[in-house]
Amino acid sequence: MATTEVTISPEELKKSSSPERIPDPCVVVIFGASGDLTKRKLLPALYHLEQGGLLPSKFAVVGVARRPLGDEFAQDMRDGIVKGGGVDAKDAKLDEFMGKVNYHAMNFDDADGYIKLKQLLETLDKKHGTNGDRLFYLATAPDYFAEIVHQLGAHGMAKPEKGMVRVIIEKPFGHDLQSARELNDDVNKVLSEDQIFRIDHYLGKETVQNILVFRFANGIFEPIWNRNFIDHVQITAAESIGIEGRGPFYEKAGALRDVVQNHAMELLSFVAMEPPVSFGAAPIRTEKVKVWKAIQPIQMRDTVRGQYGQGDVDGKSVIGYRKEERVNPASNTETFAAMRFHIENWRWAGVPFYVRAGKRLAKRATEITIQFKQPPMLLFKDSAGTGKCDEIQPNIISMRIQPNEGISLRFAAKVPGTTMQSCPVNMDFDYATAFGVSSANGYERLLLDAMLGDATLFAHRDGVEATWSLMTPILEEWAADPPKDFPNYAAGSWGPAASDALLARDGRQWRKL
Ligand SMILES: NC(=O)c1ccc[n+]([C@@H]2O[C@H](COP(=O)([O-])OP(=O)(O)OC[C@H]3O[C@@H](n4cnc5c(N)ncnc54)[C@H](OP(=O)(O)O)[C@@H]3O)[C@@H](O)[C@H]2O)c1
Repeated sequence: MATTEVTISPEELKKSSSPERIPDPCVVVIFGASGDLTKRKLLPALYHLEQGGLLPSKFAVVGVARRPLGDEFAQDMRDGIVKGGGVDAKDAKLDEFMGKVNYHAMNFDDADGYIKLKQLLETLDKKHGTNGDRLFYLATAPDYFAEIVHQLGAHGMAKPEKGMVRVIIEKPFGHDLQSARELNDDVNKVLSEDQIFRIDHYLGKETVQNILVFRFANGIFEPIWNRNFIDHVQITAAESIGIEGRGPFYEKAGALRDVVQNHAMELLSFVAMEPPVSFGAAPIRTEKVKVWKAIQPIQMRDTVRGQYGQGDVDGKSVIGYRKEERVNPASNTETFAAMRFHIENWRWAGVPFYVRAGKRLAKRATEITIQFKQPPMLLFKDSAGTGKCDEIQPNIISMRIQPNEGISLRFAAKVPGTTMQSCPVNMDFDYATAFGVSSANGYERLLLDAMLGDATLFAHRDGVEATWSLMTPILEEWAADPPKDFPNYAAGSWGPAASDALLARDGRQWRKL
């Protein structure tokens, strides 16, 4: 089956949405529109929504960035839709859609630019019948988030005159607890919380939403989803790629800020949360925050950091992190982080949650493993076979977030023959096979939800601050005690030896992915 992130077909997308999920007429304004994210993800996602008949007929897009690009912008976006979105260049709707895409060149701190932007939006309202409704998308470096929101407020664009004004803010939302609080305070001065949509594109992935369906739409799993039956949980977010030329960004971020504080903590909360009273933004956010608040302060001995050195990935020799372009040759930025969490509540007390995330690992795989306790008595322990059957292995539910999206259940089965020999086997659900499509990359769903005002899959102020509260002490302790052994893992491996030791200490090991 396909392992790439294929976009869901327009027909499937339409089928999965009820007819009433079509937003009111609006203009989507993307700040940072000449950047990588807009071209590769946002415009293709908007076009897929258009193909699926999920955008309002009265609609327009305005890209905002610094350089005066003229027609070059439209051409670049068209290329992005065709290449990034897998769209046929001759697609009948593409010209019509591109007719709704506009560009406005300005500097983000230039007041005059916002005055002209407002005029442009009013002109587009008349042309397209968009009625003053706006969705602003801040696809910029985080340093600009507060400035742009402030300028929108100062120029009368932050409060709706008639319909709605909403603002999507990209990650990273802050770089520690204090900066996240300051950013929240800054944007809350101009926007109410229900206007702010902090995006984590992981939450737009079908496989992530499916964790909730798996847990709460099936009667058989929830009774065993607790400390009585579960031994431990593992969350892996592994990438085989390096930093892809984004040295300056990654030098400031590192694996903990880039992945653990947001994506991994979101996955953990979906696995660990209590059933919400309904599938709505507020009940889900409440349950997620309760999980994060129940996590005990993380001990330094429960954390591992790493940085890749030279090694082999997919049979090719690759350079170490410190040799990457625009990276400090003595950099202490971690490209790998692992840690052990304890959620001190009725359901999870005593069940460790192990999380690891890193770059230049052996393969690309984001996966959650729920490992169950062994049966109280191992009746067949003397009859294990050879090879993969040589040990009695515990039951496992593994949720593959990407690639090969799906869920497997591992259990023991009798090997055919005259002896009573058991062997672990898998029962497998595979998205592509079951539904005939691979899941979308997340942006379609989240853009549509934001246009509709549905904040269920977006981060709330409380949640962002709760996860930063957990991560900031680790960052501070790491900064105060620079690593002495970097680089400490070879590119193409599964991270530093200390990561294996973290689990070995508890008599456990990372599942081989
Ligand atoms: N790329 C991804 O796959 C990805 C994934 C997840 C999250 N994100 C987040 O999304 C955001 C954008 O990422 P990106 O990769 O698209 O960034 P990028 O390629 O560096 O693009 C930055 C954009 O901001 C514009 N810009 C910068 N300074 C400006 C200024 N003073 N005035 C006006 N425009 C200015 C640039 O315009 P000019 O070109 O005219 O200079 C460009 O359009 C970041 O917060 C990033 O962390 C990105």
